[in-house]
Amino acid sequence: MKIKLKAMYRKFTLLTVSVVVIVLYNCTTNTIDEGDVEDLPPIQEVVTYEDDVQAIIVTNCVNCHSGPNANAGLQLTSYVNVRAAAEQGNLVNRINNAANPMPPSGQLPPETRQIIDQWVADGYLQN
Ligand code: HEC
Repeated sequence: MKIKLKAMYRKFTLLTVSVVVIVLYNCTTNTIDEGDVEDLPPIQEVVTYEDDVQAIIVTNCVNCHSGPNANAGLQLTSYVNVRAAAEQGNLVNRINNAANPMPPSGQLPPETRQIIDQWVADGYLQN
């Protein structure tokens, strides 16, 4: 009887350890998933302003970067001015700047920033 109990305890301990290991493993994996653009698989499709970039800018930037009171005097309302900001370098620097990000509320997900990076790398295609 005593021996059987010991065996049960051992099985239980093994089960507990397995669960802890699996939980810890998943936590680690999640951290990697939330990693940065470099951790993502490369984008295979062609990225263009009209198909991909414009929607990101309209959703996340235009509120503050349009009209007569645009923040930092920066207009992000057309292909031409978004491209100019990206070519100058500030736009890409700021969206990827964890300490001082744009939008100021916090960095966009890596998948979104990767699209902008790819657009720049592909040469700012319009459509
Ligand atoms: C809530 C308002 C707000 C939103 C949303 C916002 N910005 Fe800004 N942005 C600012 C303010 C304020 C500044 C000026 C202060 C600073 O540089 O932090 C600024 C500055 C910048 C600058 C630097 C301009 C310069 O000449 O130094 C860039 C580039 C920029 N924003 C890009 C973006 C992009 C791209 C997005 C969207 C992904 C975005 N911003 C979203 C408020 C905003």
